[in-house]
Amino acid sequence: MTPSRQRLYINIDHIATIRQARRGDEPVPVDAVPICERAGADGITAHLREDRRHIQDADIDAIAAIASEFNLEMACTAEMVAIAERLQPLEVTLVPEKRQEVTTEGGLAVAANAAALGDALRRLREAGIKTSLFIDPDRDSISRSRDLGAHAVELHTGTYAHAPGEGPALTALREGARHAASIGLAVHAGHGLTTSNVGPVAAIPEVEELNIGHHVVSRAVFVGLEAAVRELRRAMDAARTRP
Ligand code: PXP
Repeated sequence: MTPSRQRLYINIDHIATIRQARRGDEPVPVDAVPICERAGADGITAHLREDRRHIQDADIDAIAAIASEFNLEMACTAEMVAIAERLQPLEVTLVPEKRQEVTTEGGLAVAANAAALGDALRRLREAGIKTSLFIDPDRDSISRSRDLGAHAVELHTGTYAHAPGEGPALTALREGARHAASIGLAVHAGHGLTTSNVGPVAAIPEVEELNIGHHVVSRAVFVGLEAAVRELRRAMDAARTRP
C-alpha cells in the first residue's frame, strides 16, 4: 500500500503552442489554471523558454498570480534567475535547453554545469523558492544535485515512456527515487507520461510530484481539459492506493 497523495502539476506549455501557431490571442494559457485545479491538479507548471516559442512573459505573470502552486521550469541563465526572483513561484525546476530541440530531450548535465547550477540554486534558495533539478535517474546526477543544494530532483521519465512496463527504465526510476529520498531529496518525475503509462511511476512511493503536459493537452482536444485532467488524476490515485 502506497499511502500519501501525490501532487499533480499540469504543464500548460502546449496551450501556448496552439496560440503561437497563429501568433494570435487564443487559447489563453492562464484560463487553464482554474479548470485544471477544479479537476484535481494541485498546481501548474510552465516552461518559459529563452526563445519564447510557447509561453510568454505575460503568461507566467498571469499564472503566478492565480495558480495555487506554480512550478516555473527554466534554463539556468541569469535572465531566468532574475525573472524567478521577481515572480517568486513556489518552485523552480531547472532544465537543460537547446534551441533546436522539439522538447526537453535529456536531463541536466549536472557535473559539467556544477558551478552555474550551484550559483542559481543558491540565489533561488535565498529568494525562498523551492528548487528542483531535472535529471536522468542516475545515481551520480542525484548525489551531485544534493551536493549542489537542490531541494528536489525531477527524474526524467522519457526513457520509461518510450518503453513502459517492467524493464530497465522503470527499475532505474525506482532505484533513483529510493536513492534520492535516502539522501534527503524530494522526488518529482515527469516527461512523456500518460493516463496509460503513469501507473507504475505513480506507484513509486518516494515520488511526491508528477509534471505532465503533452498528453493532457492532446486528450483535451477530444474530451475537454477538465475531463482529461480528471482521467489522469484517477489513474494516478488508483496506482497510489493499490495494495
Ligand atoms: N518535466 C519537465 C522538466 C519537462 O521539461 C516537461 C516537458 O516540458 C515535462 C515534465 C512534461 O512533459 P510532457 O509534456 O511530455 O508531459
